[in-house]
Amino acid sequence: MSQERLSVLYKHINPEVEQSRDAQIQCNSTFATHNKKDKKLLDVKSKKRTLKVTDSESGKTIEIPVEYGAINATDLGKLGVRSLDPGYMNTAVCKSEVCFIDGDEGILRYRGYNIEELAEKSTFLEVSYLLINGELPSKKQNVEWSDRVMKHTYLHENLNQLLKQFRYDAHPMGMVISTLAALSTFYPYANPSLSGENLYKSEQARNKQIFRIIGKLPTIAACAYRNRIGKPYNNPQSSLGYTENFLYMLDKLSENDYKPNPVLARALDKLFIIHADHELNCSTAAMRHLGSTKVDPYTAMAGAAGALYGPLHGGACEAVLHMLEDIGSLENVPNFIQQVKNKSKKLMGFGHRVYKSYDPRAKIARKIADEVFAAVGKEPMIEIAIELERIALSDPYFIERKLYPNVDFYTGLVYRSMGFPTDMFPVLFCIPRAAGWLAHWVELLDDPATHIYRPRQVYLGYDERQYVELQNRTEYETRELDSYVSPMSRRRETNPDKQSKMTQASNKQY
Ligand SMILES: CC(C)(COP(=O)(O)OP(=O)(O)OC[C@H]1O[C@@H](n2cnc3c(N)ncnc32)[C@H](O)[C@@H]1OP(=O)(O)O)[C@@H](O)C(=O)NCCC(=O)NCCS
Repeated sequence: MSQERLSVLYKHINPEVEQSRDAQIQCNSTFATHNKKDKKLLDVKSKKRTLKVTDSESGKTIEIPVEYGAINATDLGKLGVRSLDPGYMNTAVCKSEVCFIDGDEGILRYRGYNIEELAEKSTFLEVSYLLINGELPSKKQNVEWSDRVMKHTYLHENLNQLLKQFRYDAHPMGMVISTLAALSTFYPYANPSLSGENLYKSEQARNKQIFRIIGKLPTIAACAYRNRIGKPYNNPQSSLGYTENFLYMLDKLSENDYKPNPVLARALDKLFIIHADHELNCSTAAMRHLGSTKVDPYTAMAGAAGALYGPLHGGACEAVLHMLEDIGSLENVPNFIQQVKNKSKKLMGFGHRVYKSYDPRAKIARKIADEVFAAVGKEPMIEIAIELERIALSDPYFIERKLYPNVDFYTGLVYRSMGFPTDMFPVLFCIPRAAGWLAHWVELLDDPATHIYRPRQVYLGYDERQYVELQNRTEYETRELDSYVSPMSRRRETNPDKQSKMTQASNKQY
């Protein structure tokens, strides 16, 4: 790691110490990496920074070392105190070298490389290699890596059959999540529950699953899409580029020589690059969480993909499109903004837990939008998006809360103009994010500090109570058990013998 990179990192985590400039920076600790390089990490010995904590109840004081701007939370246990942090607002669960974000400055780097440069000059497969293995591949490594990934794009025929069993209108993300979990049953030797918990100490065992996951995800996604449109699945073409092959599997009909538009393949590749990793976001944290149990990577990936599916995370891109459709036209924008300020609506694609300035990925996505519009025509809702952004960025409500467009604000429009149905958006996020999840999985496996993730709680429930027999119980107010009722149940519940509390009639089948 270069001294310059270390000093940026140091400045970021210790701004106040940086000002006094008297901190000593010393490289003296090692951190195991996937490619087993003896990498040096910065150990900040800033006049041995410590935190003194005094318990007002016992009068006891402890001095806790501060390392890399963090204290070891278990040290607080010496005072019988825990840190309570719903939503992990200020809790680090690992040391990581994969991704760096400066939310105030709008900086995103993978392994030290700026996202703008990677999106411009690199390819998604190169970036996957970088994230997982720590360095950009040489020409030879790149050929080997691409070849291995593209040779793992085929699905077992039973898996194709499984995908075909989903309902015609199944959400493709539900299909992808289920199929990822199902993959674990196809490779029993890759399952630590069967092959032993130390299976993934083997680089060969890890690499095989990495090739399979990165290789097969576009195929699974393409099958989910083809299932939806009632078309037969296309076999992957390993001679094509990664995103080119994906577009091929989505769109090939009866032609023998179908070739996707290279402008769209490159645009998708760039979008995959900017979605590949984002440090400890919710789904990556989920990947680490599941991975810490030593479960097989397919099951861990299914868990991570489940987290990604939520409307506050990878589902936000889909939600942006629904929002733009609801707004409908330019003249409705001011009214919508007012509803957001009244908190009756949320401006989807705005705001971020980490970025408190413009998300650098949103800028790249805005540029990609122009490239794609030039190839396939302008998506009319872009005008509404631009107007929303213009008003929001000049309104005190958004300025005070530091709300800026995030990556999802423009990507949905690009996907829409490329002809993707809205429910494919989280899938298009999931494919590239797999590279980030795997990079963190590898780092987790190599980190000697890894323990099973098991947070603590602050218990506020009853003290011990005596069990009361059913016939002796009085009725307490509890959670309402009312629920929506299907039209069929409503018809059945009209029977006067029924004492059901299900009263909320709905014509929708919730
Ligand atoms: C991403 C997100 C979950 C981050 O949440 P967070 O870090 O917990 O931020 P908070 O919810 O504490 O928001 C802080 C304030 O900004 C407001 N805010 C945050 N995002 C907002 C949005 N998209 N629209 C309107 N107001 C928003 C909150 O209401 C809150 O206001 P308050 O102080 O008056 O209560 C949140 O910004 C959000 O829901 N954005 C929309 C979904 C989205 O685009 N997600 C994709 C992320 S890549």
